[in-house]
Amino acid sequence: MKVIITKDYEEASDKMFEEMKEFLVPGKVLGLATGSSPLGLYARMVKDHKENGTSYKDIKTFNLDEYVGLPLTHPESYYAFMHTNLFDQIDIPEENTHVPSGLGEDLEGQAAHYEEMIRENPIDIQVLGIGSDGHIAFNEPGTDFNSLTHVTDLLEPTIRDNARFFDFDMDKVPHQAVTQGIATILRAKKIILIGTGENKAKAVKAMVEGPITEECPASILQKHDNTVIVVDEAAASLLSK
Ligand code: F6R
Repeated sequence: MKVIITKDYEEASDKMFEEMKEFLVPGKVLGLATGSSPLGLYARMVKDHKENGTSYKDIKTFNLDEYVGLPLTHPESYYAFMHTNLFDQIDIPEENTHVPSGLGEDLEGQAAHYEEMIRENPIDIQVLGIGSDGHIAFNEPGTDFNSLTHVTDLLEPTIRDNARFFDFDMDKVPHQAVTQGIATILRAKKIILIGTGENKAKAVKAMVEGPITEECPASILQKHDNTVIVVDEAAASLLSK
């Protein structure tokens, strides 16, 4: 894995966009994440679309995850997040965008169908953030490295971290999610991960320098042969070199 250390979040977002730029061409399949970390990247993609006319008409996207039980219209659903922060501001056709469904009777069946769609549309570049507990997508510590898209329980650190989007009320945060599995993510041809801020420093150290263990899901990225990790100085502060 290649590690790029930047001064701050803005510079990290610039680097993420540099990595992404060559994939913004017809026929590519982008794997996308939600949360605070990729917002700077998405702002740069929107700016590039508006100023340079980069078109998404023939690009497909697959998101990593979605909360269970939130209506699509809920502002914190990942479906709404993606529309607000990216899809509604570029020219991508709705049918080219995919966010796993966290609604309905047969969540596992829908997850299997989502997995199948990704198999049929292999992801060229996958954007990731990292949880303070080392999760990628919603694969929490202890998740099987062979996991595929599945329904999962969120652990307390993640619920606590995400309470900031739900009036700081942990009871309002959904306790389950549908997520791409670790094996699903590893099939992406290229992976770019952004981690910024002191809150991510421990997880970043475990990901980059720790043993490859299911206790730190992100550590498996050490085995992926085309992964770029972009971290700011605060998130890199515990790295030994
Ligand atoms: C979101 C996702 C999560 C986040 C992680 C970091 O789609 O997959 O793994 O990337 O929880 O979240 P932020 O960026 O909000 O710190």
